[in-house]
Amino acid sequence: MPVNVLFAAKPSNWVAQEEPLKDAFKTAGLNVNLAAFQDGTMAPEDVDYMIWSPASAVQDFTPYTRCKAVLSLWAGVERVIGNKTLTQPLCRMVDRGLEEGMVEWVCGHVMRHHLGMDAQILGQNGEWKPHLPPLARNRKVTVLGLGALGSACARMLNAFGFDVAGWSRRQKDLDGITCFSGPDGLQKVLKRSEIVVLLLPNTPETENTLNAQTLSLMPKGAFIINPGRGPLIDDDALLDALNTGQIAHATLDVFRIEPLPGTHPYWTHPNVTVTPHMAADTRLDSSSQVIAENIRRGENGEDFLHLADRTTGY
Ligand code: NAP
Ligand code: GLV
Repeated sequence: MPVNVLFAAKPSNWVAQEEPLKDAFKTAGLNVNLAAFQDGTMAPEDVDYMIWSPASAVQDFTPYTRCKAVLSLWAGVERVIGNKTLTQPLCRMVDRGLEEGMVEWVCGHVMRHHLGMDAQILGQNGEWKPHLPPLARNRKVTVLGLGALGSACARMLNAFGFDVAGWSRRQKDLDGITCFSGPDGLQKVLKRSEIVVLLLPNTPETENTLNAQTLSLMPKGAFIINPGRGPLIDDDALLDALNTGQIAHATLDVFRIEPLPGTHPYWTHPNVTVTPHMAADTRLDSSSQVIAENIRRGENGEDFLHLADRTTGY
């Protein structure tokens, strides 16, 4: 009997994702009947697994009575984890491609601020005025969130030579990274943070992690890089801190409302860089392998990988 898998993610992604998924199922030795939600060929009560993303037409999971797991194509699951109709296990995306993309994006933006590249790229005015940045080992960078993505970024920044610290809910022990945890740990770590990267999930506990009080702890002229989620930062407090020079520049990839409305002050602020939620994308080949592995596990009675925890919200 084939396993019935419903692709109920963003409809426009189906064309690109169908073949990589079929290849991954074949490689995993799975006999799968794969259908797209928009084709209407698979009845809800026949679905064994659902591939899902926030743009999905499926927001009521009640009819999927036989579904053994919902497999998110996104790492962040804040838009589904509180859905009361979702009683099945929910697996979030932990994907090598997503991780590599995030490491590249984060390191690129850290380097931009560390080296002061804007002075040359934007300020070419015929003036011969060398600027000598400190070495990475003399630059304190902090990653808030030491999960799949945050720990990969922290490790790569450490490999560049940066003096890296990290902060998480539970205490971590990562080679070469000074680890902090809990509310007291946040206060301590921010005091030493010249560049802060946010890779926390969006949960009630992480909302406004950076606010007027916590921003004031950072050394004057610090940089913020947020590829996590918009609600991690109190926007008004950040704008105030940018206007006083407490924060020199913020590079923001994610926002409370996306796309960021055209009238939002971030667009025109001289010390804000807006990027359109593009820091890292789930990659077709590697994410299909993760999905296939989880279905293989489900069919063999093994534990699913990357289960989201409904009590913590991530
Ligand atoms: P993850 O593996 O779940 O890691 C989350 C980290 O945040 C963990 O270290 C966790 O601590 C920490 N954390 C959670 N709540 C906390 C709290 N209250 N206080 C302190 N630390 C807390 O998640 P991930 O895969 O690394 O992804 C992180 C986020 O990146 C996603 O949730 C998503 O919002 C964002 N993202 C953005 C993009 C983009 O393109 N912009 C792409 C992918 C993901 P513990 O280790 O103690 O659990
Ligand atoms: C993207 O933002 C994700 O959560 O995967």
